[in-house]
Order: sequence, then structure tokens, then C-alpha cells
Amino acid sequence: MKKISVLFVCLGNICRSPAAEAIFIDLVKKKGLADRFIIDSAGTGGWHIGKEADARMRISAERRGINILSKARQINTKDFENFNYILAMDNSNFKNINDLKSRNSSPDFSSIKKIQNFRSAFKDLEVPDPYFGGDEGFDHVLDILEDSVSGFLESIS
Ligand code: 4NP
Repeated sequence: MKKISVLFVCLGNICRSPAAEAIFIDLVKKKGLADRFIIDSAGTGGWHIGKEADARMRISAERRGINILSKARQINTKDFENFNYILAMDNSNFKNINDLKSRNSSPDFSSIKKIQNFRSAFKDLEVPDPYFGGDEGFDHVLDILEDSVSGFLESIS
């Protein structure tokens, strides 16, 4: 069976989207679905390419038993060919992804959506950027992502 490919996207690819990626990896493993998915994350910006996720996010996630292992990369036009779902963390990411797609003439097989479209327990319409805030912001991001990422899985199952 062909695998379902999912790309989570934020601005820097060091806080929100690597957390979403790790939460989704953990979830599909727990549900015995890991072999059905290809899961990755990327940033619309390129400042942190090759870096590990922000230590504050890694530590907050580890406290929940979730390991964030990915290294930052920037989204590119090949991603529109390679991923079935591209899930943006906020409105700005969503616009930037769509702008990149509209400048691109290569094949496009992706469905681009905001991850918060799949929320149920939280009101947040965007995943807030925790980078310039305090530690509690990282926990809030993890809380809302655990909710919306599982909503996304249900929506495609
Ligand atoms: P992320 O957070 O988009 O969730 O990875 C950010 C990380 C870095 C910066 C902004 C947001 N930055 O300005 O360097």
C-alpha cells in the first residue's frame, strides 16, 4: 500500500513543526500505523537549517515522553510533489506555503491545510509561536498540537 506523506511546517522549523512531527510519529507508533506514513517537518525560513530543535521545546516534549530528533530544513517546491498533506502552524506559514506553490510550475499533489483546522479541545485557530516567550508557551504549543494532530489522524483514518 502506498504510504501517506505528511509535512508539518512552521517558520523556523525549530519549535512548532518539529514538535508536531514528533507528536505525530509517537501517535502513529502507538496506534500501530507507523509503516503507513512518511512524516517530516520544514520551515518557511532558512535561518536554522541543519540545527536541532530548540532545547526548550525538546525538554518540554521529553517530559511527556516525546523525543524530537529532527534537524531543521527549509520547505522547497519538491515538497509539493512529495507530500500528500502539508500542514501549516499559523496563517503566515499557510500564506507563505501557498505563495511558494503559486510561483512553482512543477507538479503539485499536496493538500495544504492549517493544523488547527483539526482541533477539538482548544480554541486556538493558530499554533502560537513560542520562540520569544516563556517556558509555558512551549507546553501550550504541545497541548494544542496533541489535540489537533490526533484530530488530523482521525480525519484521514
Ligand atoms: P518556529 O519558531 O517557527 O515554531 O520554529 C521560531 C523559531 C525561530 C524564529 C522564529 C520562530 N526566529 O525568528 O529565529
